[in-house]
Order: sequence, then C-alpha cells, then structure tokens
Amino acid sequence: SANFQHKSTFSAPSNIALVKYWGKNPDQTPANPSISFTLNDCKTITSVEASFANQFSFDFYFEGERKPSFLPKLQTFFDKILPYCAFLNGLTLKIDSKNTFPHSSGIASSASALAALAMNICDIERQLSSHPNEEHLLKKASFLARIGSGSACRSISGNPVIWGKNETFPAASDLYGIAFPNTLHAVFHNFQDTIMLVDVGQKVVSSTAGHALMNNHPFAASRFEQAHRNLAIISKALEQGDLDKFIEITESEALTLHAMMLTSTPSFILMHANTLQIIERVRRFRESTKLPLCFTLDAGANVHLLYPESIKSEILEFIKENLVEFCQNQQYLCDTVGNGAQKL
Ligand code: PMV
Repeated sequence: SANFQHKSTFSAPSNIALVKYWGKNPDQTPANPSISFTLNDCKTITSVEASFANQFSFDFYFEGERKPSFLPKLQTFFDKILPYCAFLNGLTLKIDSKNTFPHSSGIASSASALAALAMNICDIERQLSSHPNEEHLLKKASFLARIGSGSACRSISGNPVIWGKNETFPAASDLYGIAFPNTLHAVFHNFQDTIMLVDVGQKVVSSTAGHALMNNHPFAASRFEQAHRNLAIISKALEQGDLDKFIEITESEALTLHAMMLTSTPSFILMHANTLQIIERVRRFRESTKLPLCFTLDAGANVHLLYPESIKSEILEFIKENLVEFCQNQQYLCDTVGNGAQKL
C-alpha cells in the first residue's frame, strides 16, 4: 500500500529476575528457566513512524537526537527478526526512544528498550493484518524482544513472568515469556523494588560475554539444574505468600549469579565493597526486626531491595539512615512491580 502511514508509541519497563537467566544458546534461547518481576517506573518509551519505501530501512533517535552509533546494533537486530516480519519489507522506520531513568544509573536499558521496540513492530503488524489476534501479537512481541536481548522477553507482560522450558510450567517456552499462570499471593501485589545505585558506570561485563562464561563453566550443569529447582520452590512461595522461602531463594539466586562469575574463566568480581556493606546491613536489619526485606543483584554492583508495600515507610527510613551512604552520590531509585508494556 503506497500510502501506508503508521505512528505508534509504547512504553516498556525494566524487569528484575528472581531466578536468574545466566547462560544461553546461540539461538538466544536460555540455558535455564528464569522468573522475574516486571517493574513499573524504570521504563523506555519508544515511538515508531513507518511509511512506504522501496526497501526496508530505519533511522534511530534518542531523545529526539539522531544517534548513528546505535545503528549497527539495531541493524543486527533487524537482520535477525526480518525473517519473522515480512511486513517490514518495503517500510522505512523512524525510531525515537527515551528512558525514564537517569542515563548514568547503571540500570541496563536493553530489556525495556527492546521490549518497547518490539511492541511498536507488532503494532505495525496489527495495523497491516485484517484479523489481528491480540494474544498472538503479545507473544510475538516477547519473541522479537528476546531476539534482541534475552531478558527483554520478560518485559512485555505483567507479573511475574517466566521464560524458559521447565517442568513446573508446561506452557512456558524458550522462545517467549509467559505470565505466571497461578494466583499470585496478595503480599506480592505492589511489591517494592528500591534500587541502591552503588556504581552508576557502564557495565563491566557485556551481557554477551557474560552468558558466554557459562559455556564450559565447571559448575554449569549443576547450576542449570538448580535454577529448575529454585523456579519450582519460588513459584510455590509466590502462590502461598511464603516470604521466608521467597527471601531464601531470591538471595541465593543473586549470590549464585555472582558465584558463577567469580568461578568462570576469566573471572569477574562485580560486587563492590559497598555492595557487601548493603547486603550485610540488610541481613542484620532482617534479623533484628523480622521484617521481610531482601536483596537481589544483576550482573553489576547495584543492589535491588525487595519488600512488601505494607512495610514501605519502615524500609525507606532504614535506607535513608543506614544504606544511602553506600550509594554513589547517595542515589537510589524507587520502583514497584507493574503491568508490562503499554500503548501510549
Ligand atoms: O538479557 P541479558 O542478555 O542482558 O541478560 C540478563 C542477565 C541477568 O540480568 C544477569 C539475569 C536476568 O535473568 O535478568
């Protein structure tokens, strides 16, 4: 259609894994299943304008400014998804993106960015198809986001999201994320994630190099098996509202992720002294107050603090008095669990 014009805007959030995805296959399927909370406030907002052209092309803007430096990575992404998106042939796309979180926060934006872009691409498919199937389009958005950045497939829908074939959830897939099919216990509604920004610099280990460390890792096989077991245990805790089990598994998964990096070749120490200070104080606080506060980590030095909304004021007070001193420029971000990508 020579007159095809399309403009859409989607937001997509970041997500925080409880059972970690660490290790992948060449086709960007995970070595083990993972489960994450979708966040609400740390998100990417991406607009796409599409119009007819002789052949597929695209241009990229960040906060309204053209960014040629992003084009090679996007080209790689489009090369990989074009076989699944024939409708893109003959279109030119103008992509414009921004994040709601600070540039230099050490918060990875690849999950939210790829999820927001994938939603826009599926919206073009929706407009071009005579009988759009909403469920199929959401699955497809997760599928396309995964091709860009594995964990991005967990940023399309709401909470929690499971990615990777496993025995606990027969509907789960290596190709896209699915929403937790069981009833989530009320204690996890509006669950809080307060992110202590220990190091706001660039990632030390790229995600591609990081996952590759699990190839030939001496503990790979037992780690992948453990992830299956932990997924089963934490899923039950999420249903039953068992915060003790939730805390045990969540913290163990965070430390195991870092243990894998400590014991790979080459090895990486991504925690900082201040990361350990925060972890130690969180554990001491939990012991003395019996309040269900726990931590998790990504592949970096920042610490995510997870806790129920009902104890928010106590925790924020504890953070201000005992933890902000370990954050770079005393910075932290307050987020909560959310509902996934949205059309704006
Ligand atoms: O999506 P990637 O390739 O950036 O991998 C993310 C890996 C972790 O954030 C460390 C864990 C996870 O499951 O999100």
